[in-house]
Amino acid sequence: MTALSLVVAVADDGVIGDANGLPWHISEDLRRFRELTTGHVVVAGRLTHESVVARLGQPLPRRHTVVVSRRTPPGGPEVWTPGAATVVPDLDAALALAGRLAPDADHPEVVVMGGAQLYARALPQVGMVHLTRVHLEPGGDTRMPEGWLDGFTVVDSTDLGTASGTDVTFQTLTRG
Ligand SMILES: NC(=O)c1ccc[n+]([C@@H]2O[C@H](COP(=O)([O-])OP(=O)(O)OC[C@H]3O[C@@H](n4cnc5c(N)ncnc54)[C@H](OP(=O)(O)O)[C@@H]3O)[C@@H](O)[C@H]2O)c1
Repeated sequence: MTALSLVVAVADDGVIGDANGLPWHISEDLRRFRELTTGHVVVAGRLTHESVVARLGQPLPRRHTVVVSRRTPPGGPEVWTPGAATVVPDLDAALALAGRLAPDADHPEVVVMGGAQLYARALPQVGMVHLTRVHLEPGGDTRMPEGWLDGFTVVDSTDLGTASGTDVTFQTLTRG
């Protein structure tokens, strides 16, 4: 059975993105994201994947990105693109593929990395949330809905002042 987790940074006003990018730059959070996802299969919505490629010039290194898009061309369902990213038409196909790609085939771990549309679709199946609370109210066009963490319990929480001057809280939540 594939273990599905979710990683997200959410501002105090619920915002996670603006203009298809992050409204902040917090190196400590990028490092945590890298540590949580490197070596795993990550699942991204098309817009989030495009924002990564726009920023890095390539898909995330040392991780396989499964990109969910309804625009998957005929001839799919899996279209391999350069740089270790694969496009599939829905979350179920993403999870099936991610389970096959995960390094530990008996206990594959797959990380949903956003954005908001994909989080909403994946959340009912997610068992663990890696949350960064960003103590800002930046405003923005993409946010998490009220009550999205109902049913989850905080099992770990660490406050951190960051080099950017923004305080964050790193939390881990599990269902139940
Ligand atoms: N703060 C954070 O931790 C964080 C993390 C990730 C992203 N973000 C931000 O979030 C924003 C992007 O989020 P978003 O909600 O606008 O877009 P998104 O979820 O990244 O991508 C949306 C696209 O993904 C595809 N998609 C999503 N759900 C699908 C489903 N159930 N079935 C089939 N296809 C599906 C569709 O692609 P097609 O249109 O091709 O069909 C859809 O248009 C950006 O600002 C980004 O920077 C923030």
